[in-house]
Amino acid sequence: MKAVWFDEFGAAADVLQYGEQPTPELSANDVLVRIVTSGVNPSDVKKRAGAFADLLDGGLVIPHSDGAGVIEAVGSNVSNRQPGDRVWIYQAQYARRFGTAAQYVVVNEERAPLLPSNAEYGVGACLGIPAMTAHRCVFSNGNVDGQTILVTGGAGRVGYYAIQWASEAGATVVATASNDADEKVCREAGAIALVNHRDPNWSVDAVSASNGKKFSRVIDVEFGANLPQVLDLIQTSGRIISYASMTEPQPQLPFLRMMYLDLTVQLVIVYAMPEEAKRQAVADIEQFLHQGRLQHRIAARYPLADAVKAHEKIEQGKCRGCVILDID
Ligand SMILES: NC(=O)c1ccc[n+]([C@@H]2O[C@H](COP(=O)([O-])OP(=O)(O)OC[C@H]3O[C@@H](n4cnc5c(N)ncnc54)[C@H](OP(=O)(O)O)[C@@H]3O)[C@@H](O)[C@H]2O)c1
Repeated sequence: MKAVWFDEFGAAADVLQYGEQPTPELSANDVLVRIVTSGVNPSDVKKRAGAFADLLDGGLVIPHSDGAGVIEAVGSNVSNRQPGDRVWIYQAQYARRFGTAAQYVVVNEERAPLLPSNAEYGVGACLGIPAMTAHRCVFSNGNVDGQTILVTGGAGRVGYYAIQWASEAGATVVATASNDADEKVCREAGAIALVNHRDPNWSVDAVSASNGKKFSRVIDVEFGANLPQVLDLIQTSGRIISYASMTEPQPQLPFLRMMYLDLTVQLVIVYAMPEEAKRQAVADIEQFLHQGRLQHRIAARYPLADAVKAHEKIEQGKCRGCVILDID
């Protein structure tokens, strides 16, 4: 099969290779999927760059956890999928070496939920990391109906879905964005008000935007950098749920201030969220797709052979929406 892989860490142009690899073999609990789209996420490019030193210990890696395609064959123990089913794929390259940047992948049937006919394969490649991370951030501590939630970086791949999950579930959502186009996108996703996270006073603006009410939950894309502002705008007994801290990877915590606010800090990693939470996210995604209630943004599409460009696009950090490889 045609595939993209790397067998050393480094810049995309230096280490990503495109060519022939063996088609993976099916085992009893797995499905063989002919991949139509492969989603590229920041974690994929970080892994390729060397974020996990032991990743290549077992041999070459075909990158990308997310994708979508059509089931070609099913293992003898598989009962819920059949050849011809349209599916989306998540966690294909988590704790395993062979992801979706190829014409075929073999995954456990649980990792290949059905993709409704009203959702195109590009949408299917946006779900595994962006939509599931956002689902976990919003629902990890129960119902959010009636809560006032701040989503920082609301126009980001994860933030955009977080706004939608929270507002659909009955929360009042304020989001942050740094420009007019992103503000518009966040409003369309369900945010009632926007503040600019590049403005030094954005925490004051955020509380004003929610009519003076502080936030019960903050879903945050930059934990360390934003913590001083977040502590100004969160309610006592509030919850900070963060899924990244790239600017300050080792933040200092003002312990007493946080303790006197009776705060909970939850750090989310989509790959390791409980299986029950994964199943709930999959079920909600399936229902929302059927009902056409989720909006999706695809920023760029490339052929499989141009995986280098797709990785570089993610690394440039300026694109708004998912980056996808189309696979013949
Ligand atoms: N833990 C997990 O499970 C998990 C899952 C998915 C992603 N991630 C990580 O989360 C990060 C974001 O991923 P993504 O795919 O959503 O990226 P993305 O689409 O590039 O979105 C990032 C967003 O954050 C905004 N932003 C940057 N600095 C900010 C700040 N200080 N305050 C508020 N917003 C800020 C950006 O807006 P401007 O550029 O306009 O400022 C942009 O809208 C990456 O580091 C990724 O690896 C983690």
